[in-house]
Amino acid sequence: MILSTKQMLIEAQKKYYAVPAFNIHNMETLQVVAQTAAQMRSPLIIAATPSTVSYAGARYIVAMAEAAAKETDVPIAIHLDHFEDVTQIKKAIDAGFKSCMIDASKLPFEENITKTREVVAYAHRYDTVVEAELGKLIGIEDNVIVDSGEAVYTEPDDAVRFVDATHIDSLAVAIGTAHGLYKGKPKLDFDRLKKIHQVVDVPLVLHGASDVPDEMVKNAIKLGICKVNIATDLKIPFSNAVKNFFKKNPTANDPRKYMTPGKEAMREIVMHKIKVCGSNDRY
Ligand code: 13P
Repeated sequence: MILSTKQMLIEAQKKYYAVPAFNIHNMETLQVVAQTAAQMRSPLIIAATPSTVSYAGARYIVAMAEAAAKETDVPIAIHLDHFEDVTQIKKAIDAGFKSCMIDASKLPFEENITKTREVVAYAHRYDTVVEAELGKLIGIEDNVIVDSGEAVYTEPDDAVRFVDATHIDSLAVAIGTAHGLYKGKPKLDFDRLKKIHQVVDVPLVLHGASDVPDEMVKNAIKLGICKVNIATDLKIPFSNAVKNFFKKNPTANDPRKYMTPGKEAMREIVMHKIKVCGSNDRY
């Protein structure tokens, strides 16, 4: 059964681990995250950005996730990641998504509240939970580029006002992570995270967790992060393994053969990330 992310995040929040949210793109990547989570007894959030939904189709993603969920009893949720368009969110909820992110973080504070409230009003009617973001992460995510000069960290007082005004179910915070690979070593503002965790009671989400040293991610989880988003760290090993396969087998043309090394390489990373999140053996 496809669940909302609410219960799994509240459970993680109580026990100070994080549920991994892995970005998938197709059947192969969805299979890898679902089978690995099942094997490791980890709850799982399967995340799809607007480009993934337009590439794979909302109903296909829902159907594939339902098939995956039938093969295991660990909780699996499907989640809309970084959606900015309210109509698209409503459509995907109608197609069966039970968890969504409205990303209005580029708008001024009050407009972010207004747009987020509209999504919450619709989503909650259909038993669907809502994540929203306050602050701005730099980097590239789903074709949207934010330059380093535009980064804005989440202010704890604003976070309280935002959560109260919107009734969101989880909050993505900007504490120094970025989408994609880092130019230098990432610097996370753990004091800020600590303060936000003290004053905000909804589960907190860390975006841009690829290329962040494991110890930093673990520390963020200790300080209250209970959902960790990972995309780039999965895409790179998958595509490198496929490229290597073609280098060795230049005449290959069977997708079942050339996709398999990609899946195997990705599986290793998924296992590692689940351990970093501390979500293994929870069910
Ligand atoms: P990375 O690509 O940096 O892992 O970011 C993923 C993310 O935050 C998706 O929402």
